[in-house]
Amino acid sequence: MASVLGSRVRRRVLPMSSLLSAVSIIIQKRNIHHALIPTGKSGRSSFSGIVATVFGASGFLGRYVVNRLGRIGSQVVIPHRCDLYDVNHLKLMGDLGQLTFLEWNPRDKNSTRQAVECSNVVINLVGKEWETSNFKFEDVNVKIPQNIAVASREAGIEKFIHISHLNANIKSTSKLLRTKAVGEGVVREEFPDSIIIKPSEIFGREDSFLNYFANMRWFGPATPLISMGKKTVKQPVYVVDVAKAIVSAIKDPDSIGKTYVIAGPNRYLLHDLVEYVYAVMHRSFISYPLPRPIYQLVARLFEITPFDQWTSRDKVDRLHITDMKYPELPGLEDLGITPTPIELKAIEVLRRHRRYRWYDADQDDAKPATPVNY
Ligand SMILES: NC(=O)c1ccc[n+]([C@@H]2O[C@H](COP(=O)([O-])OP(=O)(O)OC[C@H]3O[C@@H](n4cnc5c(N)ncnc54)[C@H](OP(=O)(O)O)[C@@H]3O)[C@@H](O)[C@H]2O)c1
Repeated sequence: MASVLGSRVRRRVLPMSSLLSAVSIIIQKRNIHHALIPTGKSGRSSFSGIVATVFGASGFLGRYVVNRLGRIGSQVVIPHRCDLYDVNHLKLMGDLGQLTFLEWNPRDKNSTRQAVECSNVVINLVGKEWETSNFKFEDVNVKIPQNIAVASREAGIEKFIHISHLNANIKSTSKLLRTKAVGEGVVREEFPDSIIIKPSEIFGREDSFLNYFANMRWFGPATPLISMGKKTVKQPVYVVDVAKAIVSAIKDPDSIGKTYVIAGPNRYLLHDLVEYVYAVMHRSFISYPLPRPIYQLVARLFEITPFDQWTSRDKVDRLHITDMKYPELPGLEDLGITPTPIELKAIEVLRRHRRYRWYDADQDDAKPATPVNY
């Protein structure tokens, strides 16, 4: 990748007077297929030198990642298992013909091989908040990443980026987080140079974090939180920052083999954070402590519905786990990104949860939550 991005710089600074350099460029053009040489000003009609396969592009984070790649002029391969209609929104994110959609069967190794064979970057965003009868957490967080890592290694991919979770931990009470920890290990084993990104809870317009707490008002005037949310500390990160981090990791030649911790600038007590959510929504906030077993029982009812699970026992656990700290690992700043405070962007997510009367009100009216240091 460094070589591909580097050749762009060489082309730009070519001194017209130097016949020697011109000859070397001609030779270089003969050796490398012209489609791989970055050309033009940066922008969606240029070519960044990145040909990326993005698995899981149909999800929440996927649309931001594809958008960031498309706008710098990358070719993006989008393997999807869903109907083409469900990835239609991605079509406009790149220049004409730069986005390729492929039907993908995650269980078929050939299908995965085909999806990565023409790329130099692979990004794995596959994830699911709940288990289905077809795919358990082991499938989504271990087997699928393993297959993608193997296919990427065999195809000679230059950068393989795997998205895990900040709280991935083999001893976690959440099965999703336990399997995410196993997945990290398996990916590193199969593709030792892989870049692992560990985001905290991600917020943004289509998130299932701020929207989740906002939607709790459907079930009554008060919000249940285990221990009133006073024993849980969260450090949510803005979705655009995560997408930027992924693109920076692709461009940064030093990112190979590293693990990045991607979290927001401030840590908050869950109680204070949810209180702030309701303040931005201009709705009254009343919370009550719900013991974990009762909360789990309620969540179990959502698990047996035939529809998408709004919550689950695993999600209840995940939301009440304090975000881990990794001072020794690089983060957003090391990728040249300043983390966005939630106070600046919460309104994007929460405006639609307001009553009409308050729809246009500024979010400055809401008193920000007080950050904590632990
Ligand atoms: N959102 C967060 O707060 C957060 C926080 C930390 C880490 N992460 C991680 O970041 C990644 C992206 O998260 P997200 O919020 O964008 O998730 P998402 O909205 O649920 O999207 C997940 C993507 O994975 C695909 N997928 C799920 N199960 C699959 C399967 N069995 N086979 C093939 N594809 C499958 C989905 O495809 P379909 O559309 O076909 O289902 C979708 O494209 C995930 O690994 C997640 O664990 C997310």
